Amino acid sequence: MPESFDVAIIGAGPGGYVAAIRCAQLGMNTVCIDEWKNTKGKASLGGTCLNVGCIPSKALLESSENFYQAKYKFSNHGVMVENVSADISVMIARKDKIVTTFTTGIASLFKKNKIKSLHGRGTLLKREPSADTWTIRVSDNGITEEIQAKYVILATGSNPRPLNFVPIDNEMVLDNSGALALTEVPKRLGVIGAGVIGLEMGSVWRRLGAEVIILEAMPGFLMAVDEQVAKEARNIFSKEPGLQIHTGINIQSIQALKKNVVVNYSDYSGQEQTLEVDKLIVAIGRVPNTAGLGVEDNGLLLDERGFVAVDQHCRTNLTNVYAVGDVVRGPMLAHKASEEGVAVAEMILHQEKNKTGENEAVDFNTVPWVIYTAPEIAWVGKNEQELKAAGIAYKVGQFPFIANGRARAIGETSGFIKVLADEKTDRVLGVHMIGPHVSELISEAVMAMKFSASSQDIACIVHAHPSLSEVFHEAALGVDKRALHI
Ligand code: FAD
Ligand code: NAI
Repeated sequence: MPESFDVAIIGAGPGGYVAAIRCAQLGMNTVCIDEWKNTKGKASLGGTCLNVGCIPSKALLESSENFYQAKYKFSNHGVMVENVSADISVMIARKDKIVTTFTTGIASLFKKNKIKSLHGRGTLLKREPSADTWTIRVSDNGITEEIQAKYVILATGSNPRPLNFVPIDNEMVLDNSGALALTEVPKRLGVIGAGVIGLEMGSVWRRLGAEVIILEAMPGFLMAVDEQVAKEARNIFSKEPGLQIHTGINIQSIQALKKNVVVNYSDYSGQEQTLEVDKLIVAIGRVPNTAGLGVEDNGLLLDERGFVAVDQHCRTNLTNVYAVGDVVRGPMLAHKASEEGVAVAEMILHQEKNKTGENEAVDFNTVPWVIYTAPEIAWVGKNEQELKAAGIAYKVGQFPFIANGRARAIGETSGFIKVLADEKTDRVLGVHMIGPHVSELISEAVMAMKFSASSQDIACIVHAHPSLSEVFHEAALGVDKRALHI
């Protein structure tokens, strides 16, 4: 008789492992199945985010920024350091250690919460309409077992979108995994796609000395970001030595040779161009991972883009089967995946206890976005072009970091914060930031929006002096044209 659980979760990324912990906290007997293996062939929990995404990329961004600061910026503070050099093997080993600490940490969290962890590929088997549990086959290296569960949460994440012209070999042509594991700094690094991964990975290797050339298909730069922020970012990045960003390009062919990669493309004016680089990163988006889930047999509905089709409460078309994270619509972000995981765990409890009332749903309008470049870019809510398109009248308050004492003390004065508030009600509709440490500052804006604050509510809050958060305060004051220090 197969072992039986209240909830089975397929995938142990931030969507799946957080859902598992919350289900267990709520008293449900929970199993989490995950097939990830690290480069040493060992099972490693945490999915893309912990293994080859959020955590390792931020580790390398920090190391490379420290190197860059020591080499080029410390002298501005009168700190003279000679012969600064980067030891890439130490940086990569440090990054790997952080990853291992967190992935093994999840195994401990599972143990502590009495969550059963199974390694292998989970496939949801077809079930008779009369059956009241789902059967999941777990296969690893030819060994299979079956388990049963009343509820199933699919959290199988996403994979890099392939580029038709050239396969990823992670030697010459790299995806995010390869870009996080280079053993030396390439002299010339090409990047296809000026999205979040392209900019973050490009930043790492540029700071360490590579000449980085980014090729982007869209006619503009960061077109989903507030136009003014995107323009400021492009202005700042275009002054960075060793970084070129070409938009409006069209790839014609790519040849991965032994020692270099040759990219033929037409530029924004239609001129044929050839780019030769030592390595090429392909970062053109990610696609939902439904391979091996058993979609062909179990009747699980996918949407037209291949995501598992869900309603706003993450319910699939199959009874008691939910799906969360990158494998469903919405932002492909770790915190969105985790919040959906928690929401689904709570809903299952409601369902079990036959409670009526509101089902949980994640409000995408208050999910923050951060791009960890220097300066950082962060936003929440609607941008100006979205408000204009929706015909919503709004007021703008904006304040630059250059007028802030703390930013001057740190020596990072680029950028600004912009608050958009409803013209009639003054409710905050969106906050857009580019500048130092805005990945941390955005949380105050998220909280303001979550609690339906007005710009005047923020203006009434006392902010510590001198701190970067005063820029947010001044921007909120600016909505009513009463910013003080400008
Ligand atoms: P995943 O993390 O992809 O996890 C899915 C898991 O399911 C994997 O372990 C996979 O092996 C497993 N799996 C799949 N199919 C099966 C199956 N059939 N059986 C068993 N197991 C299966 N987001 C942020 O919010 N902040 C960041 O700074 C950030 N940085 C990123 C940097 C990079 C380079 C990349 C690539 C992504 C980054 N992201 C970031 C995005 C973030 O990693 C994803 O949004 C997040 O990991 C999605 O979580 P998930 O649980 O849905 O899926
Ligand atoms: P992306 O969607 O952010 O950017 C991909 C870029 O590639 C786009 O600008 C697109 O126009 C361009 N592109 C697509 N096809 C192209 C082609 N043939 N030639 C040239 N350019 C092309 O996707 P990316 O960077 O791969 O990241 C995937 C997702 O991972 C992000 O959308 C984000 O959700 C998540 N992520 C989040 C991070 C964070 O929160 N800081 C960091 C890294 C990734």
